[in-house]
Order: sequence, then structure tokens, then C-alpha cells
Amino acid sequence: MCGIIAYTGYQAATPIIVEGLRRLEYRGYDSSGIAFVQQGQFRCIKAPGKLNALVDKLYANPNPMLATCGLGHTRWATHGAPSEANAHPHISNDRKFSMVHNGIIENYREIKAELTSKGYKFFSDTDTEVLLNLIAECRKTAPDNLSAFQRAIKLAHGTFALVLLCGDEPDTLYATRKSAPLIAGIGEHENFVSSDVTAFLAYTRKVIFPDEGELIRITPNTCTVFKLDNLAAIQKETQRIEWDAQSAQKGGFKHFMLKEICEQPAVLRSALAGRLDLAGGRVVLPELEGLKSLKKPERIRIIACGTSYNAGLWGSSLLEQWGNIPCTVEIASEFRYRKPLLSAKELVILISQSGETADTLAAVKVAKSAGCVTLGLCNVVGSSLARETDRVIYTQAGPEISVASTKALCSQMALLALLALYWARQTKTLSGEEIQKHLFHFEQLADLLEKELPEMREEAKDFAVRAASARNIFFLGRGRSFALALEGALKFKELSYVHAEAYAAGEMKHGPIALIDPEFLTIAIAPADEMFAKTFSNIEEIAARSGPILAIADKQGGKNIRSEQQLNIPRVPEPFTGFAILPLLQLLSYEAATYLGKDVDQPRNLAKSVTVE
Ligand code: G6P
Repeated sequence: MCGIIAYTGYQAATPIIVEGLRRLEYRGYDSSGIAFVQQGQFRCIKAPGKLNALVDKLYANPNPMLATCGLGHTRWATHGAPSEANAHPHISNDRKFSMVHNGIIENYREIKAELTSKGYKFFSDTDTEVLLNLIAECRKTAPDNLSAFQRAIKLAHGTFALVLLCGDEPDTLYATRKSAPLIAGIGEHENFVSSDVTAFLAYTRKVIFPDEGELIRITPNTCTVFKLDNLAAIQKETQRIEWDAQSAQKGGFKHFMLKEICEQPAVLRSALAGRLDLAGGRVVLPELEGLKSLKKPERIRIIACGTSYNAGLWGSSLLEQWGNIPCTVEIASEFRYRKPLLSAKELVILISQSGETADTLAAVKVAKSAGCVTLGLCNVVGSSLARETDRVIYTQAGPEISVASTKALCSQMALLALLALYWARQTKTLSGEEIQKHLFHFEQLADLLEKELPEMREEAKDFAVRAASARNIFFLGRGRSFALALEGALKFKELSYVHAEAYAAGEMKHGPIALIDPEFLTIAIAPADEMFAKTFSNIEEIAARSGPILAIADKQGGKNIRSEQQLNIPRVPEPFTGFAILPLLQLLSYEAATYLGKDVDQPRNLAKSVTVE
């Protein structure tokens, strides 16, 4: 994910910014850049690739860089390829403003059209450059830079953390945020703004957290917070950060995995950003425009590996139910060699967090050689999958550092549900009102999850200690919960090294039930959906054979399940319950593995990106 570090003080800004960018590297990025004002002129140095490429460029520069204020950014591409032109900071057409940005300006197309009609030119594909020029345009009539910034921000929709530097105030930074982190660091005659406290922790532990709907103005000796509405100044308390630099890289979390699990509400917001037209009852996916087989496919085949395969399985039922399109799901390593009979009318969807998984990439070739249109669902911009598929939709989950995938799955499920609703409209399977209702529920999910996560974590702890004592575990579910059971078992075994397998609950009596005895633990996923009564009967069959059961169920329905313990699923409207069950399963594995003292972020024998067969 992108990172921001900006400095204003009495020291040379560039080395401090470069050091800050280094501390932001763990977030993952594909280009970086720095801007400052020198002798009244903006200087902006950017480079695609790793930070060293930027550093080489900076120090190859013959002029001394004595500016004591500047902006730095690491970009993880979302709008436009990772290139020098798209890297931040950007400079406005009039060369009076420079800005760095994390997030997405959803209405940038409209703003761009208006600015273009006024003669503005754009040198990148980014939404950032558009907003920056809007600030420049607002400045023409605004009394000062702060008011121009305020006017433009009021016109911008979306999620953002922004820092602005103005040519006529070379030691002043303006910043704001909406649904994206931004923190001001308060030093002695020097101040900082960053998306991550890690970037300036070596200089100060005193911070101010601006809230949404606020703007901040920072000079070497002041940090003033204003209300966005009316620019009234607000008194804001300074807080002290107690983390050490190392743990702050994980945002205060003990492990990247836990951080990534807890990021899922933000991941959901980001996956849905700009894609929900609530008023129009529509899903907005410009990536599907212009190709008939994407507008209304006759058949869909989803291909993926590991956790991404589980996402496909979860989403396939929605694609059939809502989209009314026959859909099958396959493991890439099987698909590529089994000489599948493919029809050129099929749409093949390839799902991959990294976009570099060898088997999934090989499957693209097989699908293309049969004349199928291919659609990638991918997290990493510019990855091989993104380049090789006909079209790509980015999951926008931000970099996933923990080897065991968590938040990427949440974003993949979100995109599959969006696709199902998109096609539900094309095939008229759902009415406009039904689609609107689902979109509304979908939009509320992130807030709900955010509220429930702390309690879910507490509940998962006890449950995990019991599960960690088992030698063998079955994860059971039916329907979409079977896909989640597969993910639950996968996470549990890869993190804790306890033998765990998933079964479709209805399949138990065809063999696996022979293993059930008082030692063999069953974790049953039984949400209050249309399959509850069936799953309940399957659980009874296990209880009747003295098999111990842990139930993941909603409070009410779970009461009748003969389980040792229950993990409560928060109330979420169907079919979105999976988004609440998923973090419960992830937390369960996480807590069990930490209890057993395992290496959570880097489990033995596993790799984050499997680029070999
Ligand atoms: C590896 C990772 C898994 C991931 C799988 C597929 O095995 O350890 O977490 O689910 O690859 O990766 P992809 O990047 O294609 O989603």
C-alpha cells in the first residue's frame, strides 16, 4: 500500500524523507518520489522500482538539496501502471503546488473532464494529479492556500490521505484524511506528517491524530487543526506513542497476520470504493465494458490455487444464484494438465493475490489457446496475471506480508459478490430493488465488522486453546460455508501444523464419520442460512458418536447445537455472513498458532508467492 512521509523543520529534508520512505518499504510499493521547493522552484525526483533507484537519482543530482521541507511517497499502483509519470509527488500545471496521496478519488473522471475543458493537461493516469489541479483551480479565487485546499477537498469523493506543499509557502504542509490513516508527528522545531508512525518514530513520539473532516497546517513550529466545514481552528490533544520502531512497522500488532486480519474492514471499503452506485442500484465495473462475453457470459470457469481457490468456490454459488450463469471452479494445477474441454464462449476467471502463481499463469495460456476470454482478479498491479489476462479487476487489498493469506481473500470474495450483482442486473435475475438492497447491506458491512472485531478476537482466544489441543480436526460446512470450512482447515494446518481437513457436512456419512471418536474434534460452521437445518442434522450425527464439537454459529441458532463451546457469528444479512465467519476462522488459527508458539507470519515450508509448479 502507498506510504506518505513529509517533513518541515530546520534540517535538510531529503535524507529524513528517504529514511522515512525506507521505514515504509515493508508495506510494499512499486515506485517512489520526493518533492521540495528550492530557490522558489519545485524540484520533483521520482523513480519506478525500489527505493534505491530513487536514491541513486537523488544523489546523482549535482545541485545541493538544502530544502528543509518536502514530501515523500512510496506508491503501490492502483490507477495506472507503476511508472515514473504515475509516481508521486505530482506537480500542478501552474507549478505552484505539489501533492502526495494515498487512496482513491472516486469522482476524478468528472473533475478531470471539467478541468480538461478549462485547458488543464494531465501527465499521468492518476486521480491524484486531477485533485491537485483542482486545488490549483480553486486557488484562483480562494483568498489563501488553506481555503483553496478546503474547497477542493469538499468536492472530492472517496478515500484519501493527502499532503500538499505550496510553492509560495515552502515550509508549510497542508494535510487531510478520509478513511485512510494520517498522523502528524510533533518534534522540536520540526514536524512530520505520515501515513504510518514508523516513518518518523526515530525523531519524535509525540503525535496528533487528525480526524475525518479536519485539515491540518504544519510549519516547523506549529501544527494547527481546522474544521473542514468552516476552517474554525480546533484544539487537539498531543498523544505519545509507546511502540518501538520494530513493532510499529506492524502498526502496533504483534504479527503481520493479525494486522492484516484486522485490516479487513478497510479492505472491504477499498474493494467497494467507486464500485457501488447505491442510488442507481448498480455495480460500477468499467473493467467489464466493451467485451460481449464480459457483459453477459454464457458460462464461467474460475481457476485458482490455495486460498484464492476457496474464494472462487465461495463466489461461484453467488454467480449462479444472482448472476444466473453456470459456474464451475477448478484448481489451477489440475486444470492445466487435464486437457479440459473448453468452449470459446466460456469466460475464464483467474484469481490470484500475487498474480505470479505459476499454475494459475499456466492456466491462462490453456484458456487463451481455446479462445476463451480471460478475466483476472488480482491484488498486485502490473503482475504477470494482470498483464496476461484480457481484462483485470484489482482487489485493492494492499500488500499482504504474512505468508498465510487473509485480507486478500476478503477482497476476492467482495469482488466475486460484486460481479454476481453486476451480472444479476444484466441477466435480470434480480430486480432493481433487490440489487439495491444487497448493495446497501454490502456497503454497511465494513462498519459492522469494524465494531465486532475486538469481541470476535476475545472469543476466538478461548476457542483456539481448545482447538490447539486436538490432534485431528474436521472443519465442516455446507453451501458457501463449505468453502469457508476449506479455508478454516487450510489456515489451521498451515499455521499450527495440527492435522485439519474440511468436508462438506453432508459427505461425512460416506466415509469420514468412521474416524469420529472422543478424540477427533469437529469444528462445525452453521450460520442461520437456508442450510442450517441440514448442517444441524449432520452435527447431531457426530455428537451421537461422541465426537467433540466446537460450533461457529449465530447466538440463537447455536443454542441447540450439542457443542463444547460456541463462537458467535455477528448478525450480518445473508449472503454476506461469510465476511463475518472468515475473520473468526482466521483469528481461531492465529490464536491457536501463537498459543502453540509457531512462527505465524512465516510458517515452515511455505512461500507467499509460488512461482514454480
Ligand atoms: C501460496 C500462498 C497462499 C496462497 C496461494 C495462491 O501457497 O502461501 O496463501 O493462497 O499461494 O496464491 P495467489 O497469489 O495465486 O493467490
